[in-house]
Amino acid sequence: MNGKLKIHWSCRQMPVLSIIKKRFAKEKPLQGITLGACLHVTSETANLMIALKAGGAKLALCASNPLSTQDDVAASLNRDFQIPTFAIHGEDNKTYYKHLQQVLGFKPNITMDDGGDLINQLHKSKIDPKFIGSTEETTTGVIRLKAMAKAGALRVAVIAVNDSDTKHFFDNRYGTGQSTIDGILRATNILLAGSTFVVCGYGWCGRGIATRARGMGADVIICEVDPVRALEAVMDGYRVMTIGQAAKIGDIFVTATGDKEVISFKHIKLMKDGAILGNAGHFNVEIDVVNLNRFNKRQIRPNLVEYKLGNKKIYLLGEGRLVNLACAEGHPASVMDMSFANQALAAEFLVKNKGKLANKVYILPKKLDQLVARLKLESMAIKIDKLTKEQEKYLSSWQEGT
Ligand code: NAI
Repeated sequence: MNGKLKIHWSCRQMPVLSIIKKRFAKEKPLQGITLGACLHVTSETANLMIALKAGGAKLALCASNPLSTQDDVAASLNRDFQIPTFAIHGEDNKTYYKHLQQVLGFKPNITMDDGGDLINQLHKSKIDPKFIGSTEETTTGVIRLKAMAKAGALRVAVIAVNDSDTKHFFDNRYGTGQSTIDGILRATNILLAGSTFVVCGYGWCGRGIATRARGMGADVIICEVDPVRALEAVMDGYRVMTIGQAAKIGDIFVTATGDKEVISFKHIKLMKDGAILGNAGHFNVEIDVVNLNRFNKRQIRPNLVEYKLGNKKIYLLGEGRLVNLACAEGHPASVMDMSFANQALAAEFLVKNKGKLANKVYILPKKLDQLVARLKLESMAIKIDKLTKEQEKYLSSWQEGT
């Protein structure tokens, strides 16, 4: 496929990022900055890179997952946009880490991460005094960074882009919801209607996946460890049970927890012949793929592997890696529009606040979050009401009857 055309098509659905790109081209807020990014190399990320370049940044990009790279997009970034991109679809672990090092070789002042791999590598050596800070795209990365900060091991300032409302309310829920179903269908072409569909984790991603699977007519079961979220799932109308119970009745299983061994081999052994397993969480540790790989396997279709466990067969999607990126194209551009608008604003925020930030995990100011939402609504030609002066006063007053 033609990477440049794919990038162009995504751009059409990224109006908020396009507005920021236009402003960046005029104001050049990133002039003199080198920015190293480790993100899924997709057409949406390409548009973020183009916006950052318009803002004056010098860039280098590598992949945050070996299976999510779109080779045609990587080629186009190198060829058509002169943005050095180090990513090959299906690259092995050694190449993956070599590419991270190549990006760090550009001596970035800012890094942009999806999962925290680049910042981890950065922490393995002395941090350049010219380094300004980093941004993080996903829940798992933010959890890792907060753990580093708590242990006093974080040596840079980080903006948790994931924690902007205009990121996780939409990207994690609607993006993962739709694209996970897309990945399952592209890899298997099964009918979801009438199937028993188990979702592990009822967080932002899990809620999105469950809603979309139900919308396709599946009977959805939720497995959770948090009692409040489990209760929310019950009241949302789902069956809630343990993975040990669900393992015996599910047709399709999707993990979206950020945790490890959510589906252990003990659970896999309980499953029915023909059960299909996929993971939407950041790392490929949610399903016990290591133990599955001890059994005879064969590739049935692209991204679908059959394992022979005695007299039953179990199917794994996309090697247990992010099913929506490995088996489909990740989130639709329209939702990445808001995530990447936050990324672009986070890079600008880091530059504006250079020298003022501690080695902590920050979230973007509320007004930037609201700006992204406002621009998205405007692009949809949707108008909303505004508080009157009296209403503002009423809502911030505490005296009776005022
Ligand atoms: P979240 O924190 O909102 O939800 C995770 C849920 O999983 C929580 O409710 C937690 O209680 C539950 N959980 C943890 N361990 C569990 C276990 N053993 N069994 C059942 N439930 C368990 O996190 P969010 O935002 O939904 O992200 C989940 C994962 O998905 C993260 O790894 C995140 O990085 C990743 N992610 C993937 C995307 C994709 O494109 N596939 C997009 C955004 C996030």
